[in-house]
Amino acid sequence: MENNVRPASLERITSPALAEAFIAEQIAALRAQIGDKKVLLALSGGVDSSVVAALLIRAVGRQLVCVHVNHGLLRKGEPEQVVRVFRDELGAELIYVDAVDRFLDKLAGVADPETKRKIIGKEFIDVFAEEAGKLDGIEFLAQGTIYPDILESGPVKSHHNVGGLPEELNFELVEPVKFLYKDEVRVIGKALGLPDSMVYRQPFPGPGLGVRCVGAITRDRLEAVRESDAILREEFAKNGLEGQVWQYFTVVPDFKSTGITDGKRTYDWPVVIRAVNTVDAVTAEVAELPFALLQKLTERITSEVKGVNRVLWDLTPKPSGTIEWE
Ligand code: XMP
Repeated sequence: MENNVRPASLERITSPALAEAFIAEQIAALRAQIGDKKVLLALSGGVDSSVVAALLIRAVGRQLVCVHVNHGLLRKGEPEQVVRVFRDELGAELIYVDAVDRFLDKLAGVADPETKRKIIGKEFIDVFAEEAGKLDGIEFLAQGTIYPDILESGPVKSHHNVGGLPEELNFELVEPVKFLYKDEVRVIGKALGLPDSMVYRQPFPGPGLGVRCVGAITRDRLEAVRESDAILREEFAKNGLEGQVWQYFTVVPDFKSTGITDGKRTYDWPVVIRAVNTVDAVTAEVAELPFALLQKLTERITSEVKGVNRVLWDLTPKPSGTIEWE
């Protein structure tokens, strides 16, 4: 398809000046396409949808309606950051949907990884479509499609992204970054003034912490994943590893082991630390972490995270392990 090929005239966007030129061009194009109509966007808080939101806010202001679905599987502080940045700082029209109970109820007792993904994906579309159905006058649907998604060489989104276009929503698509590579999207995001924590965010799977709470998701184990992930990210940042390691996170498996806390025997979960480097996510190697950092993480996670008495380090490259545990 001709309009799915990156135009030869589009220079690689590597500098703020090139970003500004792209932004100005896109703003004009978006205004021409959208006119005085309304455009809807599922805003996850990931790099791509955030950049599209920021571009559209510049182009059409509150004609953009963002929907942020909190499915309960986001990292600590993420829903709050989306609301703060987009509603409070950029003045966007943002609908925040608290769908936590709805997702967790649907997922209760479901242990199979693919079934979990399907439930999360379907529920996401249902919630989004329901919200869209409540709105009048929407004619466009914006999406954070990027060039690797089109080329289908992107291992991340091609085989398992959550969401996608709700088929029952028959809107014209608005895809302002569809010819850009990830690094270019980041340059644009930076030029649009988005916070570094959004622009340089590590990849985060659509099903979120759901694939890191191994087996059937329970609220307490999910909280353990979320809290341990927050500690891991904080310690990586303190140790200058943010942006140095490609992807790092914690996993809470569905088994327990004995331990001792304050002289009392415990029977609690372990937290697994996973940190990998890769170029394209097809293969990956384990990041070499300083032993002192691993000790610090162990000390903090076992003392601060409820229900956890042990910390393990995943030493497995991909292959044989995938990056995620499910
Ligand atoms: P795996 O675990 O397959 O992951 O080695 C490769 C990369 O893809 C991400 N990933 C996902 N991304 N939806 C996504 O959008 C998913 O269901 C999903 N599963 C894995 C993973 O985080 C890694 O970056």
